[in-house]
Amino acid sequence: MRVYFDYNATTPPSPEVVEAVVRATRDLFGNASSVHHYGQQAKAAFDDARSALAALVHGDPGEIVFTSGGTESDNFAIRGAAEALEPTGRRHLVASAIEHEAVLNTLKALARRGWRTTLVPVDQSGIVSPDRVREAIGDDTALVSVMHANNEIGTIQPIAEIAAIAHQRGALMHTDAVQSVGKIPVDVRALGVDLLALSAHKFNGPKGAGALWVKRGTRMLPALTGGKQERNRRAGTENVPAVAGLGVAASLAAKKLDGEAVRVGALRDRLEDGIVRQVPGTAINGARDRRVPNTTNVSFDRIEAESLLIALDLEGVAVSTGSACSSGTLEPSHVLKAMGFPPHRTQNSLRFSLGMFSTEEEVDRVVAVLPGLVEKLRNLTKRAGAQVVAKS
Ligand SMILES: Cc1ncc(COP(=O)(O)O)c(C=O)c1O
Repeated sequence: MRVYFDYNATTPPSPEVVEAVVRATRDLFGNASSVHHYGQQAKAAFDDARSALAALVHGDPGEIVFTSGGTESDNFAIRGAAEALEPTGRRHLVASAIEHEAVLNTLKALARRGWRTTLVPVDQSGIVSPDRVREAIGDDTALVSVMHANNEIGTIQPIAEIAAIAHQRGALMHTDAVQSVGKIPVDVRALGVDLLALSAHKFNGPKGAGALWVKRGTRMLPALTGGKQERNRRAGTENVPAVAGLGVAASLAAKKLDGEAVRVGALRDRLEDGIVRQVPGTAINGARDRRVPNTTNVSFDRIEAESLLIALDLEGVAVSTGSACSSGTLEPSHVLKAMGFPPHRTQNSLRFSLGMFSTEEEVDRVVAVLPGLVEKLRNLTKRAGAQVVAKS
């Protein structure tokens, strides 16, 4: 039995999405900007997807700019807004310390070009304090960027409160909602943001497709210059198959959101309770009452997370150590570090993230294999430690 519990890294596409991508690739090959029949057919599919996505986030279709995914959307949001505001003298950017690399490294790149940047810390529960954001904002702040849900621990941030503070000081508000769209209700107006990034492959859509929701009237430099696609905001021939798949994923998410949140939440809680009960020396990271329903991040005392990840993989269970982009390296999680955890605690944590195809049997399988693997690894470490002591 193979178990995939790494939905925050990416999700398997739903069969309806695969069908839509295949159909669009085969039948809707026209250039969506062409005036003839083929172009108009492609454009109609594109427009349907735009409407479906706008409905999912409660925005207007005209406010959606399709991109190649979350990374591009974050880059576009930050660079597009920052550069548009540069002539006003606002050259300061604020973000939380637990943002995804797509945000953090974009800030770093702008800092190398003379922008001032401030990272706002989080508390031990992994929540950004609006008061700390207020302290960080200055008269020259162009943009505040705080993620809606964290990818490693799942914590949901007080975006509406932070957006109100940003606006009081004349700054724009961007949220990276890559890990919340499709998991919890996302309403751009209720959040009060100006920009919101999302990615299709995180909610059972295809990879390489995403969007930035841009509130009407927001001044932005284009993501890409060239043709007039996406109302001059992102040039390039439209990727109809990917966007058609994104649209279907958005429709399915909107339809299933409430039921799935309850179902997946119950599975996550069963997994979490099972682990805490069956494996001694564990702790759950992040505010348990303010998380997306599919994610749990667990610390295992006296365990090196990478070793446990590999041991689980050999048992057919796929999980992750925090952010997928930094796994494969032994870098401690910047999120757990920002939460103030000591070094051993930033390197002994695994993320289990569930989703559309997760089942109770899978949860029970993981709870069944985990205690033995942890015990084995702890014994190995103990024996290795004893040998080192004996040698010295
Ligand atoms: C919070 C967050 N932002 C951005 C991204 C990047 O999205 P994409 O893989 O679509 O570029 C990810 C993906 O891991 C993410 O979790």
